[in-house]
Amino acid sequence: MGEIALSVLRRYAVGNRTVRKRGLCPRRCATPPEYESKKKAAVMIETRLTQSFGLSVPIVLAPMARVAGGALAAAVSRAGGLGLIGGGYCDAPWIEAEMARADGAAVGVGLITWALARDVAVLEQVLAQAPRAVLLSFGDAAPFAGAIRAAGAQLICQVQDMAGARQALAAGADVLVAQGAEAGGHGARRATLTLVPEVVDLVARERPEVLVLAAGGIADGRGLAAALMLGADGVVCGTRLWAAAEALVPEGQRRAALAAEGDATYRSSLVDVVRGLDWPAPFTLRGMRNAFSERWEGRLQALAADTEAKAEWGAAALSGDAAIAAPVVGEAIGLIRQTAPAAEILAQMSDEAERLLAGAARWIK
Ligand SMILES: Cc1cc2nc3c(=O)[nH]c(=O)nc-3n(C[C@H](O)[C@H](O)[C@H](O)COP(=O)(O)O)c2cc1C
Repeated sequence: MGEIALSVLRRYAVGNRTVRKRGLCPRRCATPPEYESKKKAAVMIETRLTQSFGLSVPIVLAPMARVAGGALAAAVSRAGGLGLIGGGYCDAPWIEAEMARADGAAVGVGLITWALARDVAVLEQVLAQAPRAVLLSFGDAAPFAGAIRAAGAQLICQVQDMAGARQALAAGADVLVAQGAEAGGHGARRATLTLVPEVVDLVARERPEVLVLAAGGIADGRGLAAALMLGADGVVCGTRLWAAAEALVPEGQRRAALAAEGDATYRSSLVDVVRGLDWPAPFTLRGMRNAFSERWEGRLQALAADTEAKAEWGAAALSGDAAIAAPVVGEAIGLIRQTAPAAEILAQMSDEAERLLAGAARWIK
């Protein structure tokens, strides 16, 4: 490839995504040689998400309750993604402490909508800290949308089906996250592969200015590239960043999860029952099976009444005993073998996705 070719700025536009690189990408070449040598300096994935949030990678940290603290959210934002603190069930002192730990980084906060409806004052507390965005999930965002947007934060709504997507659009969401059932933590029944393009099509018809992100099962550059091909503007990663060095995860749980395959996870209400949390239908939680779930699955009413078993689980959750309190991770855990700082994870994912997208022309004969 000559000098002239290397200096040409090429845009490979696919849907709402643009892979920019300097130099030519020869057709039928899996990893163009000049791409390898030039990628650090000249290649980036640019989407509507990176443009509108000023990011350098189209990756958002899932607001994992009590796992995505200020340190992890700040690390993701400083690495070019968007970090969201996992405000979950609206524990005001925890959220305040973790927002302080973010130490001025441009982070947002995620809250569980039905929990926020029981404790609306938390939203005021969060908005007073000028978050970059507020992600609401698991309930109707409409009662909170006005306050969030009036405070200058972007409203991100995570949805699990088409009815949820329509509800979030009606509420005035700036961004929809289409979350498939592969996801770790709470979710519902639709698969990422079909839900994402269906939501993308709905948004294109009804409110094309709204961004769509994919969540559920995305843990490497292959997943990121695939999500962009489905029409998403970026991805939300939970499980991959659950395993990041900065995540608030007990060591025993991390060790058990890193040894697991995707088969080891399943959806259930067991963890909600053991914690006495009254989750509305249709949401269940994906986490790993373990000795405790073998003992209690199918007997959740008995578990709800067993104070000793619940206390045993509570102690194990604090100590990180994975045989009793199982890691809350998604199917993507089978793609993750080691921990790493969040910045390294983001760099690896975007490098791999860039390489795959730049080489995709080899399929065309
Ligand atoms: C440990 C854990 C806790 C989570 N907590 C929340 C939460 O509090 N609020 C929320 O909207 N989503 C939560 N999620 C779901 C994520 O937002 C996201 O949809 C999911 O992690 C994406 O799938 P993945 O785990 O395959 O990356 C959680 C996920 C995990 C793994």
